[in-house]
Amino acid sequence: MSNLNDNDSSPPLEPALPELLVDQHVKYIQALDTKKNDLEYWLTEHLRVNGLYWGSTALHILGHPDALDKEQIVDYLVKCQHEDGGIGGHIDHDPHILSTLSAVQVLITYDRLDAINVDKVVDYVVSLQNDDGSFSGDSWGETDTRFIFCAVMCLSLLKRLDDKRVDLQKTIDYIVRCRNFDGGFGNSPGGESHAAQVYVCVGTLTILGALHHVDADQLGWWLSERQLKSGGLNGRPEKLEDVCYSWWVLSSLSMLKRRHWIDAPKLTRFILESQDTETGGIADRPGNIPDVFHTNFGICGLSLLGHPGLVAVDPVYCMPRHVIQRIGLHSDKH
Ligand code: FPP
Ligand code: ZN
Repeated sequence: MSNLNDNDSSPPLEPALPELLVDQHVKYIQALDTKKNDLEYWLTEHLRVNGLYWGSTALHILGHPDALDKEQIVDYLVKCQHEDGGIGGHIDHDPHILSTLSAVQVLITYDRLDAINVDKVVDYVVSLQNDDGSFSGDSWGETDTRFIFCAVMCLSLLKRLDDKRVDLQKTIDYIVRCRNFDGGFGNSPGGESHAAQVYVCVGTLTILGALHHVDADQLGWWLSERQLKSGGLNGRPEKLEDVCYSWWVLSSLSMLKRRHWIDAPKLTRFILESQDTETGGIADRPGNIPDVFHTNFGICGLSLLGHPGLVAVDPVYCMPRHVIQRIGLHSDKH
């Protein structure tokens, strides 16, 4: 008997697009703090404040802003602030610019910035600037373009970019020195182009009104080359696709006004296929174990893609757009 399909010249049908498992992701994030018997919970103690930022941001973008106990979060973050103003990754952990930014983002999202000493946070951030314009991550001095972005974003969110103690022209000059021949940016001058470093450098230049230092066509081309056959994006040539790059690449393209240079339906499918249908949460790629970091950046990536039912995310601050508008930063101009 002949197979009817033998003569059918139409292309094979794509499998149905998985749906976004909103309720399961909410439950997954709510359960994270109950896993105190898991080794991983303790191994990631230094990331607890960052984890709160990823989890609470994902919940806000999913449209479930009340899924975590707000007052418990605020009390906890207050306990993480140190005498020098910096905020640690957990209670009794040394302050760091990464956790300081995360805490500021969470408190602003929940409209509870009043709970911490903001002047002291600013003192801490200002104390981290180096003579070359860069910022260190903490008092030990390691520097990286990530830390510059965190410092500049903190000052921007706190409306203290006009603090006379910082020299932001030097910061712009430093970021420009991190630009490579391919249009991308690295973690320091001469560092290899990497899509996440592109996000932090383009984000810094956007906040500081200095995006004219970027060749948007050249960098947009390099970013669009990050999309692989699977639809997923990688961070550098020859690397595997990874859901978190949906954020680093797409947000950068958004700031450069070239988001349409990515095949949106294919990327949407890749992110949705990376969901864990049993536990909730999103992994770095289909079939892997989910974590809150990739869950957040997957959901924020879908939001940038305009996925139905999601709250709009701001491409610079990676926070709900309505929050950025509430504090008057008007980032939708970018
Ligand atoms: C990839 O790291 C990520 C980065 C280098 C950028 C991280 C950016 C921040 C912490 C700034 C704050 C961000 C937001 C959204 C407010 P990786 O070591 O996992 O890279 P790999 O994929 O090469 O391993
Ligand atoms: Zn990743």
